[in-house]
Amino acid sequence: MILVSRHLEPPNPSPQPSRHQPVLLEETVRLLAPERGGFFVDATVGGGGHAEALLAASPEVRLLALDRDATALERARMRLERFGDRVEFVHAPFSALASLLGPERVGAVDGLLADVGVSSDQLDERQRGFSFQQDGPLDMRMDRTTQKTSAAVLLANAGEDELETWLREYGEERWSRRIAHAIVKQRRFGPLLRTSQLADLVARTVPGGRGGIHPATRTFQALRIVVNRELDELDALLEQAPELLARDGRFAVISFHSLEDRRVKEAFRAEVRGGRAEDLAPRGVVPSAAEKRANPRSRSARLRALRRL
Ligand SMILES: C[S@@+](CC[C@H](N)C(=O)[O-])C[C@H]1O[C@@H](n2cnc3c(N)ncnc32)[C@H](O)[C@@H]1O
Repeated sequence: MILVSRHLEPPNPSPQPSRHQPVLLEETVRLLAPERGGFFVDATVGGGGHAEALLAASPEVRLLALDRDATALERARMRLERFGDRVEFVHAPFSALASLLGPERVGAVDGLLADVGVSSDQLDERQRGFSFQQDGPLDMRMDRTTQKTSAAVLLANAGEDELETWLREYGEERWSRRIAHAIVKQRRFGPLLRTSQLADLVARTVPGGRGGIHPATRTFQALRIVVNRELDELDALLEQAPELLARDGRFAVISFHSLEDRRVKEAFRAEVRGGRAEDLAPRGVVPSAAEKRANPRSRSARLRALRRL
């Protein structure tokens, strides 16, 4: 394997307060019904916006806040400080949730939230390499302490067919073959280490983006999903969640593209068909026009929620 880890940049040592705007905030809180009190889990605490609203809804809410990004967890800790020991922070991927909870809390979760994907804090921090809009190292790891494989390492080592499959399956990119070929050709002249190199390469290779979308959007999405094994993570959570919930416990998921939403929809349908849960929003909840205007990053979000019977 070709290792190009020297291109990475150190994390920001003292994070600024979060600038992430929580998506579908009111709708999520309504569906999770925290006014009941009880034990809640925010599996993707990020900047802590949803967690804050859940904790503020009732003094009887206790919350386990999880994130695989240590910097995000630090930000959430600053924001949620005033709730004292009602909040517990854990640095872990949510695929490990069942084992983290331990036997006494499995089957005792009153509300579980997963707001999957990346936050604005991650997207806007150039050194994280998630964005094609600013130049940075091609990193894209959410957890820089345990994940060893950056996007640059993947690009340096994948075969053309493998790249094509990622772009087609995880980016739903119609120009997958062309882009994969261009990446492999470019590698002969040196490794792709910067986000701007990749974004320019894709922009030169495919016709202009549709509907004002940058032509590299889908390539970046695909790579991010592979670097972080995002769909495996989501599948693992969807499999564990029903067993974790208490009776009347709620499970809400906010997803940002059809690959994720399809999985959530199917997992929820299986629970409803089995008579184990009620679907609280069968068609999903999407942001209002006003929210999309105020926060364009919310535009592809869809919220789904279940109640355990
Ligand atoms: C969209 S943000 C969440 C924002 C949060 N709801 C708020 O209001 O600020 C997604 C967060 O989930 C985290 N994340 C994504 N996948 C994860 C996983 N598999 N396990 C744990 N955290 C994950 C990311 O690091 C990121 O901080």
